Amino acid sequence: MTHLKIEPRFNPKADLVLFEGDCLDLLSKVPDGSVKLVVTSPPYNLGKSYEKRIDLEEYLAQQKQVIEECVRVLAEDGSLCWEVGNYVDNGEIIPLDVVLYPIFAGLDLRLRNRIVWHFGHGLHASKRFSGRYEVILWFTKSDHYTFNLDAVRIPQKYPGKKHFKGPRRGELSCNPQGKNPSDIWEIPNVKSNHIEKTIHPCQFPVELIERLVLAMTNEGDWVLDPFMGVGSTAIAALMHQRRAMGAEIMKVYVDIARDRIEQAGKGKLQIRPMTRNVYDPGNGKDSVPPLTVDLGNGPRQLKLQEKGKKYRVKGKGA
Ligand SMILES: C[S@@+](CC[C@H](N)C(=O)[O-])C[C@H]1O[C@@H](n2cnc3c(N)ncnc32)[C@H](O)[C@@H]1O
Repeated sequence: MTHLKIEPRFNPKADLVLFEGDCLDLLSKVPDGSVKLVVTSPPYNLGKSYEKRIDLEEYLAQQKQVIEECVRVLAEDGSLCWEVGNYVDNGEIIPLDVVLYPIFAGLDLRLRNRIVWHFGHGLHASKRFSGRYEVILWFTKSDHYTFNLDAVRIPQKYPGKKHFKGPRRGELSCNPQGKNPSDIWEIPNVKSNHIEKTIHPCQFPVELIERLVLAMTNEGDWVLDPFMGVGSTAIAALMHQRRAMGAEIMKVYVDIARDRIEQAGKGKLQIRPMTRNVYDPGNGKDSVPPLTVDLGNGPRQLKLQEKGKKYRVKGKGA
């Protein structure tokens, strides 16, 4: 990621294009079939700080314009990944992947996976179950597409398991390079205590995009994010020697993206590694609910603390 050629508008010789403005203006300058991977999370029409809430039909028409342009610039062996959650109307949820799917299908894209991105944190709903996943629709333009499965394998559950009969008896029964990560991905989302958190309200965790970049592109390929936010897609692409371009309407986010990319280039940006397991509180602090007891002088909350292999009750009246 050193000595990057960074350009403010499309230039085929650039390593990185950081376009401040409407994505349709960037896309109009990008040649047909030149991008290997389009990956993005568009505005969800929820009235966030960067969007004006509009009628759903109008929103879908706007998305269609951007998607058509993305399909035009996509290479024949390329992939398009649209990451979305729910649009919420008066308490009723409308899954955006469901209402957007006909647009992609109408442009002759082929759906390869509907990846469920499951995460642990978010709003606590009181009138429905709390939402803890979003969806990535992965489409390809043709049947001849790049898919580097070996680059994204994850550790096997039983790496030492062997065939116990037949001609391969005694040999490892699973791939020692790891297993296919499947279409359900457990990756922490970027909330306040995530090391990648910026002021953006809904940025991608870099590791989510790294997996897509490694699987669907090769070194030197172009990766495009039309709704770039604070540049997480570009960071993931550049970390793996791909070229990146993105558009963002808000200057403040473009500035943060540029700064993060510079920091990443110097090896100073904190990024959660793809290989780190999801945090498990185990028996740690606050993992045991407080115990309420009443010894005759009113209810008190006591805390169970692990001490060696035993638990000790701590608190007034214990
Ligand atoms: C869901 S956020 C994407 C965040 C991004 N994935 C990241 O990691 O930071 C959508 C972004 O699209 C930007 N945006 C909205 N309309 C746009 C447009 N027409 N062209 C370019 N960017 C736009 C918003 O300002 C917002 O930052």
